Amino acid sequence: MEIQFINPFTKNLLSLATDGLLENCALIFPKKNGAYRIVNDDNYTENFGYQWNKFAGTQVDKASKLQISKTRFFAETNWDKEDLAGKNILEVGSGAGRFTQILLDHTNANVYSVDYSNAVEANFQNNGPHERLNLFQASIYEMPFAKAQFDKVLCLGVLQHTPDFEQSVKALTDMVKPGGELVVDFYGINGAWTKVHAKYMYRPFTKRMSHENLYQLIEKNIDWMISTSIFFSKTGLGPLLNRFIPVCDIEGTLPTNLPYDQLRELCVLDTFDMFSPEYDNPQKISTVKRWFEKYGMTNVWGGKIPYDNCVASVVKGIKKQ
Ligand SMILES: C[S@@+](CC[C@H](N)C(=O)[O-])C[C@H]1O[C@@H](n2cnc3c(N)ncnc32)[C@H](O)[C@@H]1O
Repeated sequence: MEIQFINPFTKNLLSLATDGLLENCALIFPKKNGAYRIVNDDNYTENFGYQWNKFAGTQVDKASKLQISKTRFFAETNWDKEDLAGKNILEVGSGAGRFTQILLDHTNANVYSVDYSNAVEANFQNNGPHERLNLFQASIYEMPFAKAQFDKVLCLGVLQHTPDFEQSVKALTDMVKPGGELVVDFYGINGAWTKVHAKYMYRPFTKRMSHENLYQLIEKNIDWMISTSIFFSKTGLGPLLNRFIPVCDIEGTLPTNLPYDQLRELCVLDTFDMFSPEYDNPQKISTVKRWFEKYGMTNVWGGKIPYDNCVASVVKGIKKQ
């Protein structure tokens, strides 16, 4: 089925042209460096634009030669590669395109990929141009698509970084066609300890720093933070003590036995990702399940899915017919 485009602000129909999206033959949203631009870069996700263009290939399997994105994608979605052929998939908050790459290289799906930040340029660098890829710089709340058209909607690692988690879930459910599926993962609330963490102590300051200064601060300190974190993990006290070191969760989220330079790069990226976002709102799986049901999803499943040495909080459901 052909996807129908709309102007999210006026609801008028749009047509897709090589240089942009047209409304009544007038160019409304230009295409620049591979992406249709519904918004400009000046919004709360600027940090992500900086981050993903600086670390464009770090988490993208075909560049890193790791399988972290592929493993996570299939563990969480459980989608059948063959079944996706010819299907229309909407990916929201695609960042540098680690999962866009999996969809393009491991399935024959048509991919519509959205990010609010200039990360769309990193995604295009990694995955474009490609006949099955359509990239949009747009907000989850104002996407240029008519409702209920997509066979599958995917949103990984994004919802906690939006200002209104519930409205973001609603915006995603709106895009799923009857009988289609929505899969999300997000930072889960894991009891009272969730916010007792260096991240939540320092974020009020770090998110206000310039991106360059924050990046330089992390670069200068990353080596001692990695060695201290690994030391605590070896003593068995990692889960208790590492939350007070201002570094990403190495033990719980990164592959073991990486060459040091690759581990270091992943740590700098994940630590920047921890301290720079404007919003960081973890959520309970049960609450997200309830919102799925409230906004028209059925067969809703929520739980923890393990992959590699990580565990993700995942909710999925099918749009009511
Ligand atoms: C932590 S990154 C995850 C990127 C990618 N899914 C991944 O796992 O590598 C979160 C992404 O969500 C995007 N984002 C945040 N708020 C958004 C919004 N309102 N609409 C669309 N994308 C948004 C950011 O620009 C950023 O690229």
